[in-house]
Parts: sequence; structure tokens; C-alpha cells
Amino acid sequence: MPNLLLCLLLAAMMAPAQNLMPWPARIAHRDGRLELGTFRVALAGFRDTTLERAAARLVERLARRTGVPFPVGVAADASEATLVIECPQAGAAESYTLDVTPRQARIEAGAPAGALHGMETFLQLVEPGPGGFSIPAVRIEDSPRFGWRGLLIDASRHWMPAEVIKRNLDGMAAVKLNVLHWHLSDDQGFRVESKRYPRLQEMGSDGNYYTQAEVREIVAYARDRGIRVVPEFDMPGHTSAWFPGYPELAAFPGPYRIERGWGVIDACMDPTREEVYTFLDGFIGEMSELFPGEYFHIGGDEVNGKQWDASERIRAFKREHGMKSNDDLQAWFNQRLEKIVSSHGKKMVGWDEVAHPDLPKNVLVQSWRGQKALAELARQGYEGLLSFGYYLDLAQPASFHYANDPLGGPGASLSPAEQTRILGGEACLWAELVTPENVDGRIWPRLAAIAERLWSPVEVTDLSSMYRRMAVLSRNLDWLGLTHNRAYPTMLARIAGGHDPEPLRLLAGILEPVKNYTRHRGRAYRQDTPLNRLVDAVAPESLEARAFGEDAGAMLAGKPGIEKSVVARLRAWRDNDARLRAVLQDSFLGADVLPLSADVATLAAAGLDAIAYLASGKPAPAAWISQQKAVLKRAAAPRAELLIMIVPAIGSLVDRAAKPGGLRLEPTGAAPPATTPGRRRPPEGLRRH
Ligand code: ACM
Repeated sequence: MPNLLLCLLLAAMMAPAQNLMPWPARIAHRDGRLELGTFRVALAGFRDTTLERAAARLVERLARRTGVPFPVGVAADASEATLVIECPQAGAAESYTLDVTPRQARIEAGAPAGALHGMETFLQLVEPGPGGFSIPAVRIEDSPRFGWRGLLIDASRHWMPAEVIKRNLDGMAAVKLNVLHWHLSDDQGFRVESKRYPRLQEMGSDGNYYTQAEVREIVAYARDRGIRVVPEFDMPGHTSAWFPGYPELAAFPGPYRIERGWGVIDACMDPTREEVYTFLDGFIGEMSELFPGEYFHIGGDEVNGKQWDASERIRAFKREHGMKSNDDLQAWFNQRLEKIVSSHGKKMVGWDEVAHPDLPKNVLVQSWRGQKALAELARQGYEGLLSFGYYLDLAQPASFHYANDPLGGPGASLSPAEQTRILGGEACLWAELVTPENVDGRIWPRLAAIAERLWSPVEVTDLSSMYRRMAVLSRNLDWLGLTHNRAYPTMLARIAGGHDPEPLRLLAGILEPVKNYTRHRGRAYRQDTPLNRLVDAVAPESLEARAFGEDAGAMLAGKPGIEKSVVARLRAWRDNDARLRAVLQDSFLGADVLPLSADVATLAAAGLDAIAYLASGKPAPAAWISQQKAVLKRAAAPRAELLIMIVPAIGSLVDRAAKPGGLRLEPTGAAPPATTPGRRRPPEGLRRH
């Protein structure tokens, strides 16, 4: 990027309107602020009920945010209004401008979708100042980089009631996402009421399914917020829950039960039987009316083919049709399915595995395999979406998702025409280890980093800015009813029983769950396994450990004035273990956390010693260094499916203490270690052990 542009961008990010997320395409700051002593919103130009409801919601949300009882409703006279929303026509265009002067704010958008985004931006600008609530004078011209910005919520593996979906739709709208991909059926649950095939929900859901009335309500709720709903009914694999009610769809006779374990399951539809397509035509027809959107997702992933291989009839069918592999058989199934989906007026979406030379290119492919696979699909002529790198259930940090660009890696070498086939991306929240209690904490606030990657200009990559804005957004989501901040202390309190959970909070704040699919390797989780332990409560990314790592790094880089807070945190962690033992001694939910707590105390002591060595100007002795290396190695190993996230920062303190030269530090009160060879007084932190 040219330097001038970078300077402008950085200047903009430093300026008063600094809490926006996703960051807008263009922003120019002006002098002054618009005071919100009173607040009236008016609609100019095109009016429709979506805009009217959105404007009314904006007033309600502003009242909730500020605690000021602004008059409800929409004003008739634009000249008197604090905020005027002007939208000439209906449509789906998402761009908008927001012009704020000290006299009035004005949103102009080509269509309601853009106006909705402008309203979210307006709300993000509201701040309390010395004279009351106000927003800075700015001009924002904004439009998305990608047209498809989604979140998949898996409501099959664990049931997610309607209120979970609704509050997350509110959160999605706040960060300008526009697609809810609703994963509605899988081996572990069939979650929608079918009136035509009622045994689907009666025998496949344990009674936990969305009624058709609920589906309609949620689809309307999403539409009101500029979000389209793409239902996914995964097939021909991931279909165990269809078969208790309709075993005749399966490649093997059964009987079948709802699957309770996780992983790739053998149960699979029989693509060789006409009755299967008759059933699917009826089912997809019914669902196409229930879900009025343009797209219909048929899944298509992870067919292991075991049932097909084991069936003499299916093997014979493959031979008769000259099929060489199960991929060919699945492509046959998908071609039939594509015709059915098209006949009901929908565009078919599927995961990577659906791509096949025999399949028409009008199928949208969603890639869980990665940027390379996606780029190859675009080259072949498919439109595609990236989801690899956006799996929120794998407990990766926001920075990891933020660096994952749909047009990154091999995507960068696509021709402009091929690049336009990459429509955007979707975050995925698979729910094997997620419940309605911790779902918001698994999604938020990291989803905001993905939303920004999909909305903002490609140059917007500054990590510290992103993390700072994400923290602000995370707090503001509380006003929308998201539960990620509220559920966490409640889950810690459950583990702590009747004790004060504060020592547990101090430890939990620097822990993270193990990454990727590691949890499944250590324990045979099932659908009914309680998800109530510390690993289920802690945030997927420890922002406290991240902040500590940054401060420790800055201190080592010579930045003045940080060591007091670094030392204060280390002391708190060092002294926490004894307090935590008292909390957890009676709790079966917390006992497996105690070894981590002991290691945190030892690590913190090592960090304090390292700082004391650095302050002394003399390198730490070799024996001490090797002792700390052993501590670091032990502390880096997962226990109770948790990781201690301050290990790397302590490691760099220890490494630096081994080097000569010390560090100019303000007095911290840490006892200087005695370094007399032979009779070394153990440094501060080690004395307790
Ligand atoms: C997938 O992760 N199998 C879509």
C-alpha cells in the first residue's frame, strides 16, 4: 500500500471516531460533535416497514445504551430530527454514507440494507462526554468488500433454542454480517418441523426442533436486520437423525437411532433408489416455502462410503452406470438434487465435496478445505465461499481468523474474473462442545474480527487497533442481549460452589481451551456429556494473556513505565494458588484445574525472578535458567483440556534474563536475587516451593 494511504488510514484510526467495527471503507473527521440531548429519527424518501421498524429499534437501542428515555417512534418532520435516514428505493445494495455535523446526522443509502448498516455505524459512534452523550462529526462512505458475510450456527449437535438464534442475529447485524447459515440437520438431531414428513422431527429431535411458526418468525427477524437465512440439510451423509423416522431413505435397512457420539458416521442415504428422490422433492419443496431465500444448502460433506461399499445392490448400480468411485456416485446424487433444488426456485450450495466434473457450475461451493481448494474451485468456474480458517469452535485467536482472507494465499493469483467468483466467507460454529449457555462466548467477540475481514478494505490489518475495537464492541454487545460476558462469571460461580469465585476468575482469565479437535482425542464426548467444566467456561482466546504478553514484550523492548503493572499481575498470579485451593477443594468440577493453578504460581514466580535478575544488571545463573526451562516445558502441556497462555511471555522474560546487560527498570519492589556463586539465595518466587 502507498505510504500516504497508510498514513491517512492510521491517522483516521487514531481520530475520535475510533470504536467502529468493522472499520469503514472511508472516513473523514470534522470538527465538533452532535450532542444527543434529545433524539429524534426521521425517514426521508422511500419508506417501508423494514426501515420504519429499524428506525424504531434504533431509538430503543439508543435509550437502552444511554439510559435516557428518548421518545419512541419515528418523527414526521425531517428538519427537526437528530438523524435523518434517506433511502430512495427498495433493493439489496449495502453501501451507505453517514454524514454527521454538529447540527444533524444523515444516512443516505441506495437501499434499506445500506441504511441498516448506517444505523449500526451511527450507534457505534455514541459515547458519553463531559456534557452528555454525543457522536463525533464525521463523514463515512462505506460499502462491503465481500457480498457474502455469514455465520453458520449448528443447531443439530446441541439444540439451540430460538432465542439463541435471535440474539445472535442482533449481534450479526451489529457487525454488518448478512447471512445466517442455519445447520438444521445432522446425525445428532433433525431440528425443523416438517408437516409432510412429521416423523423427521418426531423421531429425530428428542422434541427439540423449530416449529414452522418459529422458523417464519426467525426468518422475518433476520430479514428485518438485513440478514438472509440459508438453511442447510446435510445429505447424503450426516443423516442418522432422518432415519429413525424414515429408514427407507438409508443405504442399509437399520433400525436407526439418533446418533449420540461425534465424528464421521457411516449412516448414509441410498442414492440408487427413486423413492429417495421422490421424498427429497417433497421435503425440499416444503422447506423451500418455509425458507423463502434464494439459496438452499445440501451439505454434501464427509461421506465415508462404508454403507455404499457394503451394499451388493449399490455396488451393482455403480457397475451398471460405469461409476468408478463413490465420488462418482455422490456426484450422481448431487446432480439429481440440483435439479430438485432448482425446480423449487433455489440455488444449491454445498461443501467442497460436491464439486465434480459432472456437476453444473451454478452450484455455490463452500470451502472447509481452504484457500487453495477455493481458488481451484473459482478457476473451474464455481462461485465459492471460504470457511476454512473461520471455524470458531476450534478455539483459535481472533488474530488467526483476521489474517485469513478469502482472496489470500493462492486466491491472490486468480484473475479478476475468477476473484469475483469468491463471494466472501462464513464463520462456522459447530456445536459438538457448545450449549446454549456458552454458545455466545464461543462466537463473540471473535466473530467481529471475521466480520471486519469480510467487510473492510484489504489494507485494514492493524492487530492492536482490531483488538482494541473488538473489546469495545464486546462490551456494547451486552446491550443487545448477547450473553458471552454474562454467562462466563455464572459458569465460574457454578464451579466455585458457595465460594467467592474471584481466585478462579483470576486463573481462568489466562487459560484457553486446547485447540482444534484435541478435546475429542482425550475424552469420548457425547451429546449428553455435561459441558460445565472450566474448559467449557473459559474464553477461546485469553485477552488478558494477550495483553500481558504485549506489556512484557514492550517492557523488554525498553518501553518505560510498564513494569509496575507487569509485576503486579505476576504477584497476583503467584499468590492466587493458595486462595484457589480453598475454593476448589470441595468441587468435583474444579479439582483437575489445581495442577494448572500450581504451575501458574511457579511461572509467575519465574517471571518475577527474571525481572529481578534483569534489574540487577547481571545475567541469571545457568542452573536457574535450566530449572525455569523445565517449569516452562511442564506448564506448556495441556491439562484438564486447558492451556496456560502466559507461558510464551514468561519464556521471553526468562530468555532475556539469561543474557548479559540487564534492563533499566523502575524500582518495582522485587527483591534482587543474590547471585553469589555457590550460595545463591533463592530468588523471590522460588522461596515458597
Ligand atoms: C465440515 O467441516 N465437514 C463441513
